[in-house]
Amino acid sequence: MQPLRFVVLLGSLRKASFHATLARSLPSLAPEGVSIEFLESVGDIPHYDADVQAEGFPESVVKMGKAIKQADAVIIVSPEYNYSVPGVLKNALDWISRLPDTPFAGKPVALQTGSPGLIGGARAQYHLRQILVFFDALVLNKPEIMVGQLPSKIDQVNDQISDAQTRDFIATQLVALSKMVSQRQA
Ligand code: FNR
Repeated sequence: MQPLRFVVLLGSLRKASFHATLARSLPSLAPEGVSIEFLESVGDIPHYDADVQAEGFPESVVKMGKAIKQADAVIIVSPEYNYSVPGVLKNALDWISRLPDTPFAGKPVALQTGSPGLIGGARAQYHLRQILVFFDALVLNKPEIMVGQLPSKIDQVNDQISDAQTRDFIATQLVALSKMVSQRQA
């Protein structure tokens, strides 16, 4: 298999974010030949404003768009806020969607959500899927990663997902995403 580059878009700004730990676990779970890189923080993206856009896209948006364009796939890792997508992530996606030649078009994308509760951010994940329809992104269907009781599945000392079953699920999704990318590029 060709070496593949996946980039991660994180939907939390919190320093001790559980989802940031999930994201930082990905390199250790990726199949051989897949590298995982992290996009800049969505906190670096200004509030969407069409007047600002009319004067030129902010540098942070252009940079994120380029990184997405150049990647083989994107993994969006995010919490759920009020049954939906956190505003900071939606804001970044809104900017990216306005870039000419939208970088998400035809791009394989995997979604990973979590929650301290049982549902694992499922509602936010389905909203994300809906948003990505307009982007023409190729969102991987299965396996779905919705990690319930996420805080109890993390080893904060080692900054890794520690729950073996969750690690296996995530590793399986990364293999499925790699296969999707390879089939597209074949
Ligand atoms: C939440 N949280 C939350 N959890 C959930 O499962 N469903 C929800 O709808 C919400 N809504 C929500 C709204 C707001 C404004 C906040 C701040 C939080 C709880 C959330 O899952 C929890 O704070 C996670 O720890 C956030 O993820 P990070 O920042 O730890 O990665």
